Amino acid sequence: MPPTYRILPVIENRSLGPYTYLRIEDPEMLLVARCGHFLMVGFSSSIDPFLPRPLSLFEVEENSFSILVKVRGRGSDLLSKTREGENLKILGPLGTPFNPPESGVLIAGGIGIAPLYYQSGWMKSGKLFYGTKKKEELILTREMEERDFTVKTITQENGGTVCDLVRMNKNDIEGEKIFICGPWDMIRALKEILGEFARNAFVYLERRMGCGLGGCKSCAVKTNSGYKLVCQEGPLFPLSEVRFD
Ligand SMILES: Cc1cc2nc3c(=O)[nH]c(=O)nc-3n(C[C@H](O)[C@H](O)[C@H](O)COP(=O)(O)OP(=O)(O)OC[C@H]3O[C@@H](n4cnc5c(N)ncnc54)[C@H](O)[C@@H]3O)c2cc1C
Ligand code: FES
Repeated sequence: MPPTYRILPVIENRSLGPYTYLRIEDPEMLLVARCGHFLMVGFSSSIDPFLPRPLSLFEVEENSFSILVKVRGRGSDLLSKTREGENLKILGPLGTPFNPPESGVLIAGGIGIAPLYYQSGWMKSGKLFYGTKKKEELILTREMEERDFTVKTITQENGGTVCDLVRMNKNDIEGEKIFICGPWDMIRALKEILGEFARNAFVYLERRMGCGLGGCKSCAVKTNSGYKLVCQEGPLFPLSEVRFD
């Protein structure tokens, strides 16, 4: 049976760096959520915006889960203003989950930290390369170190982009499985920079999504084996499969 929307209450809304952290009460998510899953999140009290928005799982606890929202447009702005006690419409977990390696390299640009932080909770150790525009946008570095990740950061106002960071530390990446999440241009540039290491790289893709269930085709992405739906076969894809032309 296809999953159905559930109406669930927000129990915490706070800032985390430049983002909004929303915790939602749900005793069921822990039983079903796996690494790589995402959610469709919509508004229960309004039909505008009509369509829900795709968001990564950020943390899953015994009686709740959380998401991290970057305000981009109207939907994410409204989400960030959801108050404790208000309900959201939640569909999921969705997508194709995967078993992450015990150790590996995570490469995050900006809000791309959200699914990678969730993934790190399924791993024993690793390395995080993390870039943002400004210093105050770097979040969770201490928590990642507590999870036995070596953390290297860079900001555009002081040094360059995460692509520069990877270029400077390419020796650290050899032989490792690599997981990437960030803007499309960053992913395209990393494919070039990683060169032969791109064979071991996987990328979380972001696409506009209408349904999250394979029905609307709005999330199609071009791959070496034709168009694929990010909501069904992703969001994680082998980097070598993704076409940028
Ligand atoms: C699987 C998946 C997981 C995601 N996880 C997160 C997350 O954890 N936290 C988070 O803040 N965002 C996440 N996103 C992106 C998030 O869905 C968009 O930021 C959101 O839908 C924008 O809605 P809006 O109404 O605010 O913006 P709109 O008004 O619809 O658009 C504003 C701007 O954002 C761009 N945009 C809109 N939708 C997307 C999208 N899906 N991906 C990239 N750019 C988009 C538009 O091109 C436009 O420039 C994820 C997307 C996917 C597909
Ligand atoms: S979001 Fe509708 S098919 Fe993927």
